[in-house]
Amino acid sequence: MLSAWRKPLNTVMLKVDPLNPEQNTINKAAKLIQDGEIVAFPTETVYGLGADAGNDRAVRRIFEAKGRPQDNPIIVHIATFDQLKEVASEIPSKVAEIAYFYWPGPLTLIFKKSDRVSDVTTAGSNTVAVRMPSHPVALALINASHRPIAAPSANLSGRPSPTTAQHVLADLAGRIPMILDGGATVYGIESTVVDVSVEPAVILRPGPITREDLAPLLGEVNMHSKSVDRPVAPGMKYTHYAPKAPLILVESKRNSVVDKIKPLAEMYYSQGKRTGILCTDETFDKYPDAMIKISLGSRFYPYTIAKNLYACLRRMDELEVDMILAEGFTGDGIFETIMNRLRKASSRIVLNS
Ligand code: TXA
Ligand code: MG
Repeated sequence: MLSAWRKPLNTVMLKVDPLNPEQNTINKAAKLIQDGEIVAFPTETVYGLGADAGNDRAVRRIFEAKGRPQDNPIIVHIATFDQLKEVASEIPSKVAEIAYFYWPGPLTLIFKKSDRVSDVTTAGSNTVAVRMPSHPVALALINASHRPIAAPSANLSGRPSPTTAQHVLADLAGRIPMILDGGATVYGIESTVVDVSVEPAVILRPGPITREDLAPLLGEVNMHSKSVDRPVAPGMKYTHYAPKAPLILVESKRNSVVDKIKPLAEMYYSQGKRTGILCTDETFDKYPDAMIKISLGSRFYPYTIAKNLYACLRRMDELEVDMILAEGFTGDGIFETIMNRLRKASSRIVLNS
C-alpha cells in the first residue's frame, strides 16, 4: 500500500565532477540511501532515482515520487561482481560471460532473484534485472552506500527519461530530497535489457548495446514483440518517453520523410498550430525557417542522435508546441533503438512507402 503523499521536500542539487566525484558529496547522498531515502544520480545512460534495493519502504518512495505503476519492476544497480552474488540466486555461466564482457556498461541482464532484493523492487517477480553502470558517480554512490541500488529513470512516469540534472529537477522538484548533478549523460538513452534465460535470448528493451553487438556472444537474438498480451518486461505496456504535445512519427522506406513532413507541417501551420519539426542536420534546411525546427544531430552520427533525443523532446515542450512531426530512421543497430523510443513517444505513426 502506498502511504499518503509526503509533504513537499526541499530538493537539494549538488554538483559533482562526473570524472572524479568528490567523496564528501558522494557520502552525503550515500547517507540518504542508507537512511531509506531516495536520491537522483547520473549514470552513463540516463539519470536514475535510487534507493536501497533491499528496503521495501525506500523503494516504495521511488514509485510514489515517479507516479510509477507498482507492477513495473526496477533495475538493481551494482558496483562489483560480489554484489551480483548478493542479488542473484543463480548465475548461469552463459550469463556471467556476457556480464564480464559488457559490465560496467549499458546492459541489463535478468537473473533469478535472491531474498536480499525487496519484492517491491521486482514487483513481486522471482526474477531481478541487474546492471553494473560505468558512470563514476553511480559506481561511487553504490560503493559508498555499501548496498545495491534500485533505480528507474528519474523522470515522472510516462515522461522522457532525464539526461541532465535540470530534467530531473523539472519533473521531481519537491518530490525527492537530493539530485547529484554530474552534467549530461553519455548515451542519453536507457540500457539494453536482455533475457538470456531463454533460447534464443530476447532483447526486452533495445538500447545502446545492439542486437549486432550481442550476436558474437549470444548467436541469434530475438527482439521482443510488442504484440504479446502479457508483457515479459511489464514496462513495455505503459506509455513511455512521451512529450506533452502529440508526436506524429513519419516512417519511410525510401528516405522521403521530408516530402511527407513538409506538407503536413504546412497544413498544421496554416491551421494556426505551433508545429515543431524534429529533423536532422541533413534535412534541417529543407523545411521553412518560419517553422520550429530542432535537429537531433547528423544521420552519420546515430549515437549522437540517440543521446540528443530525450533532451530535444523536452525542448519541444519548453517551446510549447501544439504538434511535433518527427523524422523516422531506417537501419539496424542503434537506429533500431532510436526507432523503438520514437515509436513509444508517438501518438500516431505515418508510414510513407
Ligand atoms: O539505463 C537504464 O536502464 C536506466 C538507468 C537509471 O540505469 N534505468 C531504467 O530503468 O531505464 P526503468 O525502470 O525506467 O526501466 C527498467 C526496465 C523496464 O522496462 C522494466 O520493465 C524492466 O527494465 N525490468 C525491470 N525488472 C525486470 C525483470 N525482473 N524482468 C524483466 N524486465 C524487467
Ligand atoms: Mg524509465
